[in-house]
Amino acid sequence: MPNSSIAPNSAPPTGIRGSFIDFVDDPFIQDEQASIRWIPDGLLVIQDGYIKAFGNYSQIAPAYDNLAIQTHDDRIIMPGLIDTHIHYPQTGMIAAYGEQLLEWLSRYTFPTEQKFKDKTYALEIAELFLDELLKNGTTTALIYAAVFPESVDAIFEAAQRRNLRLIAGKVMMDRNAPKDLCDTAETSYQESKALIQKWHQKGRLLYAVTPRFAGTSSRSQLDMAGKLLREFPGVYLQTHLSENRDEVAWIRELFPDSQDYLDVYDRSGLVQSRSVFAHGIHLSEREFQRLSEAESAIAFCPTSNLFLGSGLFNLARAKSADSPVKVGLGTDVGAGTSFSLLQTTNEAYKVAQLQGQKLSPLQAMFLATLGGARALSLEDKIGNFDVGKEADFIVLDDQATPLMALRNGSHDHQTLEALCDRIFSLVIMGDDRAIAATYIMGQPAHTR
Ligand code: GUN
Ligand code: ZN
Repeated sequence: MPNSSIAPNSAPPTGIRGSFIDFVDDPFIQDEQASIRWIPDGLLVIQDGYIKAFGNYSQIAPAYDNLAIQTHDDRIIMPGLIDTHIHYPQTGMIAAYGEQLLEWLSRYTFPTEQKFKDKTYALEIAELFLDELLKNGTTTALIYAAVFPESVDAIFEAAQRRNLRLIAGKVMMDRNAPKDLCDTAETSYQESKALIQKWHQKGRLLYAVTPRFAGTSSRSQLDMAGKLLREFPGVYLQTHLSENRDEVAWIRELFPDSQDYLDVYDRSGLVQSRSVFAHGIHLSEREFQRLSEAESAIAFCPTSNLFLGSGLFNLARAKSADSPVKVGLGTDVGAGTSFSLLQTTNEAYKVAQLQGQKLSPLQAMFLATLGGARALSLEDKIGNFDVGKEADFIVLDDQATPLMALRNGSHDHQTLEALCDRIFSLVIMGDDRAIAATYIMGQPAHTR
């Protein structure tokens, strides 16, 4: 008789043993000790890509006879990193010299994105882009494609082959951009709708309605985006908000009836719980309150904000206990200067410092993992090692370079304080070299 507790076609479970860290709560709001789960000798049991058991090795192991276990000695195992804002067509134009947002868009970005009408080229960049994500320990991202539906097919096809949990969408843009790069309110609606029907919830893939920003969308196009959200309640909305002072002034001219930048989006029904607004640097208190009430999220993109000279994001305000706004980290490549979310935490720490704020090592790692999952309303699927979640995780090496080995000395995480100090070295010094391995649904997808 087959064992009735084992589903037909189910693979035998496998185990990962090592030192685990994840979050069960928000260390900006709760006590840090109560937010982190640190298991120095832990066992993660995975079956069919999902977490079947998690806890102390000594407690979990006896329940599993003949479990094939892979051990990661002297490493730190964490949930996969989550990038809440990135543009895959901008991969090749990273580090474009000399401009701030609006000039940067017209001088570098628009010409680059024109190339993504060519599906073959789009696929080539999509593969390279996904290699970079995995190399940097990023297992989930919220991604802008270009205006061309072919560019959306390319990123979803490439992600589907790798079984990644990704969210992406076609840029909607019907004015203030080169003609070849513009759609119309109607075609953007029709094309987005067809892409939603083709890709949303196909395996692990999800769709985001993606009006680029208020500067390149007419009111009728923003209304069409709102119509899509009403017709397809599970889809996401991503756009840019209040990134640069000249941009904010321009949006005020384009939409004189709106009380502020966020209100431009609100009037088309775009401010909701699956909405992710990139940047939010120059927001009024009213806009923060409204984002909090709507349970929308902000993607904090420090490497981009510094590179384009956009300004300093007020993280302490966003995470204030009275009216908190969900925050995730975004690399914002190609305005962002690295695919690494560890380099992103490095710059986030400095942005906080410049405003007299403190970003603790655990808060930084929360933003890159469970905080990102919450910002994307995916905390029921990813973000920590809770049983039932998808087994996307990374193995971190805090001695990846001679300098890090010198900094961190022998592996001796005896106390939480000592561990936090090592985590801080990863937050500041870490990059792709510190990612020893990346696992997707329990399978190795990158090994250094
Ligand atoms: N605002 C509108 N489009 C973009 C973009 O591609 N990158 C950034 N950083 N900001 C934008
Ligand atoms: Zn962006």
